[in-house]
Amino acid sequence: MNLPRIFSGSSNPQLAKEVSQKSKIKLGSLELGKFADGEIDVWVKDDVNNSNVFIFQSNSYPVNDNIIELSLIADALRRSGAHKITAVIPYFGYSRKEKQNRTGEPISAKVIADLITASGINKVVCLDLHADAIVGFFDVPVIYLSALNVLAQRLKGEKLINPVVVAPDVGGVKRARNFATLLNAPLAVIEKHRQTHVRDEMEVLSITGQMSGDTAIIIDDIISTGGTIIESVKALKKRNVKKIIVCATHGIFAGSAVKNLEHSPIDKIFVTDSVKSSAKSKKIETVTISNLIADCLTQEL
Ligand code: R5P
Repeated sequence: MNLPRIFSGSSNPQLAKEVSQKSKIKLGSLELGKFADGEIDVWVKDDVNNSNVFIFQSNSYPVNDNIIELSLIADALRRSGAHKITAVIPYFGYSRKEKQNRTGEPISAKVIADLITASGINKVVCLDLHADAIVGFFDVPVIYLSALNVLAQRLKGEKLINPVVVAPDVGGVKRARNFATLLNAPLAVIEKHRQTHVRDEMEVLSITGQMSGDTAIIIDDIISTGGTIIESVKALKKRNVKKIIVCATHGIFAGSAVKNLEHSPIDKIFVTDSVKSSAKSKKIETVTISNLIADCLTQEL
């Protein structure tokens, strides 16, 4: 059997490198490129015959390219005789479309899970999916990790006076409750409303639960445009919350999110490195999930 290898797609090579160093699983040699017409090309240069291989790819921006690249790497590894192919997908794009909100819509998360699985992968490792049910969309075994503990450990180093953990929407209550348990803090829930015909926009309807704390800790899975967080912060400020900390596993920061978050009265934002970020802001701190993933891969060998 050949040695196990990590093959990194182009979405987050830094995370793959750190996981390789920590797990002692070597990075494989892979050439990634594009044809003049935009088609993606990959070439696995190592002998992977009969070996355990891991593909690293977050389905972040450019999301469609990264999904296709992942599928092509998987196909190349399968055709090269790899024994077991595990796709490590720290951020699973299209996860927010895991159900139909109205007739005529696709269930995009299922389509992407099928697409990736069809390319020949045997197992998936993923992290804090938008909805836990997405695990069942894959017809192969899934190792489902959470960064909540990593984020909670980092928060324990902060000065938190009377903290209250806040779910920014009803769909995030389970996540927020788990986070509140880790931080030994009470829970509050914001009810938000999204208009089906306007993408990326939301409004806050109400806040339920104890909200008398001095520090609000909003926990979400994804920060994309920042709209959910910014509207939540406005609602919390009306309740005289003094300090606002935001935690999210996946810091996408689409469009002018960073600028808008900078201008909002948030004290600090913690995200993980599930997505490679070029976000430059003193408010944003990245906490690494490389140990979490390295431990997981080591157990898979
Ligand atoms: C939605 O239900 C998710 O949990 C996030 O709250 C949402 O996707 C964040 O997106 P944005 O930053 O664009 O509001």
